[in-house]
Amino acid sequence: MDIYSYHHFIFMRLLFPLIACLLLCLLPLSLSYNQLPLCHQEERVALMQFKDSFIIKNYPLYGYYPKVASWRIDGNNTNCCAWDGVECNQDTGHVIALNLSMSCLFGSITSNSSLFRLLHLQNLTLSYNDFNHSQIPSEIGNLSSLTHLDLVYSYFSGQIPSEIQYLSKLSYLWLSSSFDGYNDLYTESLTSLVQNLTNLETLVFNGINTSSTVPESLANISSLQTLYLVNCGLYGQFPTKIFHLPHLQELYVSANEDLTGHLPEFHTNSPLESLFLASTNFSGNLPVSIGNLNSLTTLSISNCNFSGTIPNSFSNLTQLTYLDLSQNSFNDLSWLTRASSNDILPQFYFLGLAHLKYLTKFPDILRNQSKLFSLDLEGSNLQGLIPKWMHNDTSHNGMP
Ligand SMILES: *[C@@H]1O[C@H](CO)[C@@H](O)[C@H](O)[C@H]1NC(C)=O
Ligand SMILES: *[C@@H]1O[C@H](CO)[C@@H](O)[C@H](O)[C@H]1NC(C)=O
Ligand SMILES: *[C@@H]1O[C@H](CO)[C@@H](O)[C@H](O)[C@H]1NC(C)=O
Ligand SMILES: *[C@@H]1O[C@H](CO)[C@@H](O)[C@H](O)[C@H]1NC(C)=O
Ligand SMILES: *[C@@H]1O[C@H](CO)[C@@H](O)[C@H](O)[C@H]1NC(C)=O
Ligand SMILES: *[C@@H]1O[C@H](CO)[C@@H](O)[C@H](O)[C@H]1NC(C)=O
Repeated sequence: MDIYSYHHFIFMRLLFPLIACLLLCLLPLSLSYNQLPLCHQEERVALMQFKDSFIIKNYPLYGYYPKVASWRIDGNNTNCCAWDGVECNQDTGHVIALNLSMSCLFGSITSNSSLFRLLHLQNLTLSYNDFNHSQIPSEIGNLSSLTHLDLVYSYFSGQIPSEIQYLSKLSYLWLSSSFDGYNDLYTESLTSLVQNLTNLETLVFNGINTSSTVPESLANISSLQTLYLVNCGLYGQFPTKIFHLPHLQELYVSANEDLTGHLPEFHTNSPLESLFLASTNFSGNLPVSIGNLNSLTTLSISNCNFSGTIPNSFSNLTQLTYLDLSQNSFNDLSWLTRASSNDILPQFYFLGLAHLKYLTKFPDILRNQSKLFSLDLEGSNLQGLIPKWMHNDTSHNGMP
């Protein structure tokens, strides 16, 4: 036997059967993997009752459609694991996710809603429906497996149930008041509500009336990546430690006029990408170390109470595309006005320089801003002509 036929022999006699067997054995496995688990009878009933507790209200808006319309118990439709918006655990068949976002549901969720019998739910998404200004029932606290809870823009009203604090597995908590801007939802105890939610990655609490200080305990949630507390009636001093959370990428605390605070020294390697402090009472200087935020794309500090110098280290923020410095009391604007065309500068698509009292010279920083889409210079004390080089840049609006 030469070496070639020896290899051939080994392959045909030993390896080939092995490979064939592996393929044959794995095939049924992969088939069964694609098969849906069978739905539990009592969960199917609970889902149907939940569906029947609403009126379908159609919106002529893109993306909205009544997912529950396909839920029926007839023919070969009985496996609720196959229903639109429903997901079951592959092994146990229990309903673990219910995503009925933009599903045209109209009606109240009551405390005896069959929803609260779906005890295995990990993900509950009911955003963009109309729950008729009903309260979020306290029974939500029974769904102790929840990791995702999304109730934004769904016309809930009243006090957020304190039972949410027991949902300690939550990593995504999204609550927002309605589109029409009313602060329908409120909480009297933001601090205790979030105290035990130590696994949060995303906390969105927009337009919720808290009349509270920012809980210090948020600075202890090291997993936090996204924090939105916009227009919440927050007051007092913002805990500076929150800026230093190791994974924090997005911090939005704008539209809280009575919230005071200052910016800390920023370290390199900070993951901060977006910082929105507009319309708060943050004050003090912008630290030179802001130049260390090399992931920063968006910074809005308009209508705050910052003063002093705009540090040259801003030039180092190469990812920065949205910068709003409007309505502050800076008295040294040389970073804006003395840029030379040789400087490497961030390329902005939005630059807000409105109502800066000491901005009297046309800002040289606008040279070389070929991507600028929007520029706000309203209310500045600019004198003289708009320089010729300005006419060469692309589409501007908001020009004085
Ligand atoms: C909506 O709420 C109002 C006032 O509470 C109530 O009268 C009405 O029946 C509710 N409609 C639905 C569909 O639940
Ligand atoms: C934050 O965590 C530290 C250490 O675990 C603890 O001592 C402190 O009380 C916590 N702070 C808050 C406000 O929960
Ligand atoms: C702005 O901040 C200064 C301190 O830096 C403070 O004295 C002043 O009252 C603040 N202005 C407003 C409108 O709060
Ligand atoms: C910009 O970054 C470089 C390199 O990290 C550093 O040497 C320089 O001092 C920074 N410039 C400013 C104005 O902070
Ligand atoms: C700015 O623009 C000028 C001419 O338009 C060009 O020569 C220069 O390289 C540009 N500078 C930067 C930093 O892009
Ligand atoms: C405007 O652009 C044209 C062509 O790109 C160039 O020749 C001219 O020098 C520019 N003018 C100014 C004032 O930068």
